[in-house]
Amino acid sequence: MSTTTITRDCRGASSHRAYRLGQAPGRLPLLGNALQLFRDPLDYLPRLRHEGDLVRVRIGATTAYFACTHDVVQEVLHNPRTFDKGGEFIDTMKLLLGDGVGTCGAAAHKRQRRYIQPAFQRDRLVRYASVMHDEVTALTDAWRPGRVVDVGTEMSRLTTRVTAQLMFSSGIASDAVAEVQRSFPVVWKGVYRRMVIPFPLLHALPTPANRRFTRAMERLDAVIATMVDAYRKDTADRDDILTVLLAARDEHTGRGMTDTEIHDELMTVLAAGVETPASGLTWAFHLIGQHPEVERELLTEVDRVLGGRPARYDDLPGLPYTQRVVAEALRMYPPVWFITRRAAVDTTLAGHPVPAGASILFSPYALHRDPDVFADADRFDPDRWLPENAAKLPRNATITFGGGSRKCLGDVLANHESTIALASILSAWRLRPVPGHRLRPVAKAELTAGPLPMTTEPRA
Ligand code: HEM
Repeated sequence: MSTTTITRDCRGASSHRAYRLGQAPGRLPLLGNALQLFRDPLDYLPRLRHEGDLVRVRIGATTAYFACTHDVVQEVLHNPRTFDKGGEFIDTMKLLLGDGVGTCGAAAHKRQRRYIQPAFQRDRLVRYASVMHDEVTALTDAWRPGRVVDVGTEMSRLTTRVTAQLMFSSGIASDAVAEVQRSFPVVWKGVYRRMVIPFPLLHALPTPANRRFTRAMERLDAVIATMVDAYRKDTADRDDILTVLLAARDEHTGRGMTDTEIHDELMTVLAAGVETPASGLTWAFHLIGQHPEVERELLTEVDRVLGGRPARYDDLPGLPYTQRVVAEALRMYPPVWFITRRAAVDTTLAGHPVPAGASILFSPYALHRDPDVFADADRFDPDRWLPENAAKLPRNATITFGGGSRKCLGDVLANHESTIALASILSAWRLRPVPGHRLRPVAKAELTAGPLPMTTEPRA
């Protein structure tokens, strides 16, 4: 292990300390550390911090650098030109879903982010909240007392419908929303499979799964093309993401976005915005089911503020405990559990040399379990997020939504969506754990809970 001492001022926090460069243990000939990384990353990655602040990991013949500690991760996040988007996963995602704001390189990022940013401004968030209110109402109206529902599937259904309506809000869009709901889950599953099994020939075989993927992809492309075409012909302000993209102009040339650019941004919104809140909500229901004291406090708050009705935008400030539960579920089970960058030039990280082209890896899941940052890190404790307790944590202690210039564009929206969904459901229903069902986090494209059967019990 080698050590470099540097003084850094990481977003205001000055420190002078030694940064250790380590080597990931358990290397095998030819495979390196690939087996541990792919077989049980949620067990393996948090343990790497014992090896150093920055740890070299061998994946086959290549060396990647895993950033283990808070300041090293912040150094990566706040130097987006040096540690640019890249890596195998991002390259595969680009091939399949296009080159939107979430995957594009630093050179194009500022422009692309400026195009879509207005879609996440406050006035639009107010409208989005009413979509969330209506959709959660529709979802739970279909529940019947005493039935077992798979909470994961229910939450994905909810967030797919919400996201599709944020993209297309017009009256002519109900078919489009239904089509997104039908096709996107198939596409997302196929994209993940192609990311982890990088053998294109295998995915070109005419198997039923490959054919389903291709057909779903074609339907999704077609529905986006139809909507773009319809909106271009009728340019009414519809207060949705597609309208924002059509109005975007390059500040130097005045040029608008092409159909391909718009397609790629809409695919990005689906890829980034559907399964992440669904996963966070599923974990929240699981954790609430395991912690009756948290459930009691939640129900007290929800009953006082909502009195049995679903939540609206104006209710959000009155639901601080619900928001703390959401934040704590996302700390323990961050849906984006693994993030990659690629060194654009020969550089240093934590004071150690890193060659151009090297992959830089870090994991919100591992970082959020760091006992040096979070006392009793494996304990579900929403009160960590009481303002007086949160103030004692390092700035940006959690990276649930990333950080720096590439921080999640949908962070506020996702918090609203999760809080409205959680409070509205708890206002009318309790979800009871099914005895004997054991849940284990599964690291896929997001951190999923797998099936989570819970029994619906009306509260009234
Ligand atoms: C709990 C829910 C969510 C979580 C945990 C989450 C997490 C993240 C993270 C960690 C990143 C940064 C990835 C990186 O640095 O490589 C990111 C980026 C992004 N997210 Fe989210 N996200 C969530 C919800 C959403 C929603 C609802 C939307 C939109 C509807 C959205 C849109 C985006 C976009 C567009 C980016 C790319 C930003 C950029 O590169 O400039 N996210 N998200």
